[in-house]
Amino acid sequence: MWRASILTLYPDMFPGPLGTSLSGDALARGTWSLETHNIREHGLGRHRAVDDTPAGGGPGMVIRADVLASAIDAALPAGDERPRLLMSPRGRPLTQARVRALAAGPGVAIVCGRFEGVDERVIGARGLEEVSIGDYVLSGGEIASLVLLDACVRLLPGVMGKEASGSEESFEGGLLEYPHYTRPREWEGLAIPETLLSGDHARIARWRADEARRLTAERRPDLLKGD
Ligand code: ADE
Repeated sequence: MWRASILTLYPDMFPGPLGTSLSGDALARGTWSLETHNIREHGLGRHRAVDDTPAGGGPGMVIRADVLASAIDAALPAGDERPRLLMSPRGRPLTQARVRALAAGPGVAIVCGRFEGVDERVIGARGLEEVSIGDYVLSGGEIASLVLLDACVRLLPGVMGKEASGSEESFEGGLLEYPHYTRPREWEGLAIPETLLSGDHARIARWRADEARRLTAERRPDLLKGD
């Protein structure tokens, strides 16, 4: 079983949308498991404080190293071989290649940051790898971790209805996906491209490859340059 352990201040946000549809069915079947750990349980004092003001001053609050380390040590046994990720806009951007590698492994342990961030010392001391889901700032790592989990879970054996639909989609071939059409043949005066109705499979394959390249050049030239 592929195992996900989540350290968060908001365990109620899980499984959230992953409890429905294909990922929810797979969770119920035991294809993967989800375990949440509330960082607050390791908070200090009567108010279970988990954060404090930044050293050097400035806005916001920072999650304390001692509190987060104690939450990590309680949740993750020493021999646990799963990658330890910290969702953060500062992280290395998540890619489909990384998703594929994570899905092929034993699972993930994910720390969800909040506030301005977490004390830098705990990142190194507990071997956390910062991962970003894109160049924008969310209010915390929870939704980012749901995104990462969704991308991984759909690749687990038996989760996708049709095996092929997992591999042919955008990015797996390094290009954006070609356009899709279905019935009706004409809709609001718009026809389906004639090639797709030709029954000529070689010609259809060529049309799709051309369209994928054209769309990628137009929208994501960075993918063609291989950077
Ligand atoms: N937490 C806040 N913003 C984030 C992002 N873009 N990616 C991952 N975690 C985040």
